[in-house]
Amino acid sequence: MENKKRDSFTGKLGFVLAAAGSAVGLGNIWRFPYLAAKYGGGIFLLVYLCLIVSFGFALMIGEIALGRKTGLSAIGAFKKLNSKYAFIGYLAAIVPAIILPYYSVIGGWVLKYLSVFVSGFGSAAASDAFFGGFITSAMEPVNWFFIFITVTAVIVVFGVQKGIESVSKVMMPVLVGLSIVIAGYSVCMPGALEGVLYYILPDFSKFSISTVLGAMGQMFYSMSLAMGIMITYGSYMKKDVSIESSVKQIEWFDTGVAFLAGLMIVPATYAFSGGDPAALGKGPSLMFVALPKIFDTMWMGHIIGVAFFVLVLLAALTSSISLMETVVSILCDKMKINRILSCVIVYLFSLGFGLVSCFGYSIWADITVIGMQFLDFFDFASNSVIMPVVALLTCIFIGYVIKPKAVVEEIELTGKFKREKLFTVMIKYVAPVLVVLILLTSVLEAFGVFRI
Ligand code: PHE
Repeated sequence: MENKKRDSFTGKLGFVLAAAGSAVGLGNIWRFPYLAAKYGGGIFLLVYLCLIVSFGFALMIGEIALGRKTGLSAIGAFKKLNSKYAFIGYLAAIVPAIILPYYSVIGGWVLKYLSVFVSGFGSAAASDAFFGGFITSAMEPVNWFFIFITVTAVIVVFGVQKGIESVSKVMMPVLVGLSIVIAGYSVCMPGALEGVLYYILPDFSKFSISTVLGAMGQMFYSMSLAMGIMITYGSYMKKDVSIESSVKQIEWFDTGVAFLAGLMIVPATYAFSGGDPAALGKGPSLMFVALPKIFDTMWMGHIIGVAFFVLVLLAALTSSISLMETVVSILCDKMKINRILSCVIVYLFSLGFGLVSCFGYSIWADITVIGMQFLDFFDFASNSVIMPVVALLTCIFIGYVIKPKAVVEEIELTGKFKREKLFTVMIKYVAPVLVVLILLTSVLEAFGVFRI
């Protein structure tokens, strides 16, 4: 047994900023605005908010409490509470191990775009062929990926307090500041008002079950749930910090930045595309193809472009740190090895798998897995399949194996658990049903049977 004291966050602020750093990521910046525009603006925001404070709240509370109660990362936590269920921890541990490499490949793309804008060549990035030319070249994406993952590893080597917490305390305020400035700039552009209204006002005619499913999938990913991250961060939390109020703050942070990202992107794309932001494509094409075009037409667009890619870089880095930390922490706990060795192992492993994702667009572009390129396949397997399964098992574990009371006790170490009833009902009855729905729709959608 290791008797060295486990590293911990210094207090509530450090914990909240680090966890918010994990939650606020690429998903907030490119995926949320796109989905909000697609699913009827304000009505999507409304549904999203309701889900965050109910379903998201319950799962996040549950995960953090599991970590803090046991003082262990995912595998150890499940095992300690009931050794028959350690397999849930193993499943949860696979998710960040799959996501980290390809997330870092995208982090590398962000670095590349930042360098292009910083060196004054933003206009080149606005051309149609630029993005395709970049990701299909054999070595360039590899180099940027290498830089990104190395920076992540260096921060993680420094540990919870000196690495993750101190970096989050600087990066997160800068990230919020930049979000406010860019969103402010974007809404003041000529013709933006119409787009702002489109984004904020609910269009009830667009409400459907797809709105709820879209919002649910997004919420899940955005809050970094069901991948052992919140369990790990919870295990570094001191016993005198309130979990309930920390979760509320993390949710505000995450939703606030997503909302601001919508204000940056929706009005601008709306004006640019003559009223149809969804027509500009989603995911990588929105961020790496459409936005550079818009920056190119904006007054001071190049400076906004630099600010925007700094913002995305910070968001991506704090998320990749949490992914790496989760895997490193599991290795340390499980194999009883030290942090440095564990970091080296995770780093080398991620380098290998990241290369596969890079080459999947270039020299191995002909190879696909169930019709998907490597990066898309890793994304699908982790987000659409394993994560919902882990979430379902976690709900069952808390709701029926250890019972909600075990979590409630942990929350009440710092005072009354105000939303205890909501938590219990959610974790036992509502969340499992919703999670099964997410799983079914995302798998059916991937195979083209269903379209949301
Ligand atoms: N929550 C992050 C986002 O919204 C995504 C993420 C996924 C972060 C996996 C860490 C791990 O982009």
